[in-house]
Amino acid sequence: MALSEISSSYSMTQTLNTNLSSKHTTSLNSYGSRRRSALLHPRCAPRIRCSVAPNQVQTPVTTAVPSDVVSKRECYGVFCTTYDLKADEKSKSWKSLINIAVSGAAGMISNHLLFKLASGEVFGPDQPIALKLLGSERSFQALEGVAMELEDSLYPLLREVSIGIDPYEVFQDAEWALLIGAKPRGPGMERADLLDINGQIFAEQGKALNAVASRNVKVIVVGNPCNTNALICLKNAPNIPAKNFHALTRLDENRAKCQLALKAGVFYDKVSNMTIWGNHSTTQVPDFLNAKINGVPVKEVITDTKWLEKEFTERVQKRGGVLIQKWGRSSAASTAVSIVDGIRSLVTPTPEGDWFSSGVYTNGNPYGIAEDIVFSMPCRSTGDGDYELVKDVIIDDFLRERIKKTEAELLAEKRCVAHLTGEGNAYCDLPEDTMLPGEQ
Ligand code: LMR
Repeated sequence: MALSEISSSYSMTQTLNTNLSSKHTTSLNSYGSRRRSALLHPRCAPRIRCSVAPNQVQTPVTTAVPSDVVSKRECYGVFCTTYDLKADEKSKSWKSLINIAVSGAAGMISNHLLFKLASGEVFGPDQPIALKLLGSERSFQALEGVAMELEDSLYPLLREVSIGIDPYEVFQDAEWALLIGAKPRGPGMERADLLDINGQIFAEQGKALNAVASRNVKVIVVGNPCNTNALICLKNAPNIPAKNFHALTRLDENRAKCQLALKAGVFYDKVSNMTIWGNHSTTQVPDFLNAKINGVPVKEVITDTKWLEKEFTERVQKRGGVLIQKWGRSSAASTAVSIVDGIRSLVTPTPEGDWFSSGVYTNGNPYGIAEDIVFSMPCRSTGDGDYELVKDVIIDDFLRERIKKTEAELLAEKRCVAHLTGEGNAYCDLPEDTMLPGEQ
């Protein structure tokens, strides 16, 4: 591949950092400079950028740049050499580019997820994408590393990579926002503190989405406690439909399917209609009453009701904790896979008779679950990015009692973040055993 041009923003970045002229912007070490360069580099036209340090760049080809590219060729940080692939795009009958924002982009989950997004396995082989990666001041160098690895992977569908630490900048025109970044609960930290610290991040990100994202952006909240973070986010984004916000419980659905398959001695693709009810926490309810194996109700295939009620349920609820004990850190690869599954469930039609689980806004739900919280329920999609709640699942006494418990936990979490949802003073009376899957 020949270098075709050096964009003007490269020189802009260089100008801003004249003392660092021997290196590209990866070497920026002050927040001020970084932020300045981020603000000076708004959204790019669809194209691939390759990281090239100034002293590696061959002859600048500034005169050969087509005028329509000149007007929008600003780029971020190290992404300074641009290949104009417009003509190429025309011959490919690709869909138009979509903008995908990812927070916590330098973390482990993202490190698995971003490469799946870029490969086309999530949105399809004819869907070019722009990745807008949000990191923090602390993670900025790592974020540049991620962006460089993405470039080096030469994914044809990855037309743009931009990085930044300001959600108002990074979320600009986002059509999907995958909100992964959150603080883990540290030693001695109260759960209320965690709710407050992460809640502030999600309040800010909700405001930013409200201000600059696409009006129909789909938001998937992964950072824990994800249900309440999703609620905070949507409350701070009143101009975006509340229905567009999801809390990731697909990981729990996948875990439940795996455990049922294991017990029944079948491959896990034989398990369907798996609902996770409620919170992504140890009170979540994996619904074995409505789930099916080979199209047959689970209870007819696995007749050991005690196992279903106790071992199976607890195994799913606490799977995240067991993983942390083994790995020494939270699940990352399987979380990324479940984000992919969650998105694919929204962009492809749900198979006839089946459904998927997602934590969604409860207003108007048919199950009598408290309104105005984010609660995992069974959903179906026609593949347009939207979903409908499945209405005809059976709820018996066992399920009802457990659904009440996870609902009570979410209502308590909601009271605890009232200061972040615009509902007055917070009052924290979290149930004693309120825990994330990873806490035991
Ligand atoms: C998981 O389910 O693996 C994580 O949400 C665990 C955690 O508590 O971080």
